[in-house]
Amino acid sequence: MDLIYLDNAATTMVHPDVAKTVYRGMIDEIGNPSSLHKLGLSAELQITKARENIAELLGVSSKNIIFTSGGTESNNMSIIGSAMGRRRYGKHIITTKIEHPSVLAPFEYLRNMGFSVTYLSVDDEGYIDLDELESSLTEDTILVSIMHVNNEIGTIQDIESISNVIKGYSRDIYFHVDAVQSFGKLKLYPKEQGIDILSFSGHKIHGPKGVGGIYIGDGILIHPLIHGGGQEGGLRSGTENLPGIMGLGEAVLKVKEHMDMNVNPMYNLKSTLVEGILNKIPEAVINGPKVLEGAPHILNVSFPGIRAEVMLHALEERGIYVSTGSACSSKRENVSHVLKAIGAKKAEIEGAIRFSLSYMNTEEEMRVVPQIVSQVLEELKPFVRR
Ligand SMILES: Cc1ncc(COP(=O)(O)O)c(C=O)c1O
Repeated sequence: MDLIYLDNAATTMVHPDVAKTVYRGMIDEIGNPSSLHKLGLSAELQITKARENIAELLGVSSKNIIFTSGGTESNNMSIIGSAMGRRRYGKHIITTKIEHPSVLAPFEYLRNMGFSVTYLSVDDEGYIDLDELESSLTEDTILVSIMHVNNEIGTIQDIESISNVIKGYSRDIYFHVDAVQSFGKLKLYPKEQGIDILSFSGHKIHGPKGVGGIYIGDGILIHPLIHGGGQEGGLRSGTENLPGIMGLGEAVLKVKEHMDMNVNPMYNLKSTLVEGILNKIPEAVINGPKVLEGAPHILNVSFPGIRAEVMLHALEERGIYVSTGSACSSKRENVSHVLKAIGAKKAEIEGAIRFSLSYMNTEEEMRVVPQIVSQVLEELKPFVRR
């Protein structure tokens, strides 16, 4: 075994069939999907197929899916687009303290534009409090954005109950869900779960980087952020990323082959990993929700006394790739805003490592990793701070 890749919440390896599809999209599909001749129609048909694959996974109509450049754009468009679209009805918007930067930054942007923002707190496992949500809603509230699965600690929010609270107060408040970490991993049926707008991304499910999309429910009005030729129903102008969209469509087909959304098989891998770690390193601390109540692919563990970067590089030398906190923000932030929000202690925050899995990982890898982590800890013992 020369490489054990456990940074799948940051990004996944492209599935070989996805790569073949992307190649086909680049070489065989030469037309612009907007062109009227047969090459254009052929390209457009490929987009339609990918849209249908996604719609089927989400149990929605393909006319409700639009493509973007990934999760970040989807979140920006969902949040800023709906706030701009609904600003004459109110200027209060709600999110949580543990969102991904691609949600927090658009909220900060809107705050600077004159909107008022409520950031919901979370408990020590990362769950929001439904009573706090209910008491935060006002006649001025136009949008609530809450992530499904937290990318650092794997907490799964109870989306249906959240929607019931929001819609019980007013059916006019839009409910957006950043589902980048749950898409293709957990049951996600926006219509049944009361979700108005949902963001997803290709590269978290063995698809290409730089492609994703949004589900927008019937009657939900979003202002476009990118203006031009009117592609994607006028919501997202610009010639479509045809190879990327085809690759995303293929990645969704692979998810359907590999996943049982009722009981995700990745929970078995996660259990083996956790048992191994706690067996070999009893002082390790699991951050976030109870292991089998959290997402199947995310495990956040602190090895107190060892700085996370030191552990990360020591594991890297042995061919194991992990993350400290969230990959998208770890280059900028020293302290994880998520671990801070759940009240983790300083030593735990400094020592937190995120192991994140995919359907391509194996039981064997899950048995090897705890052994190597404990060897590394043994070797680093002289440098451990007490
Ligand atoms: C929860 C969450 N939202 C949004 C994003 C951003 O997605 P993308 O990398 O496709 O822009 C990420 C990526 O890490 C994420 O984990």
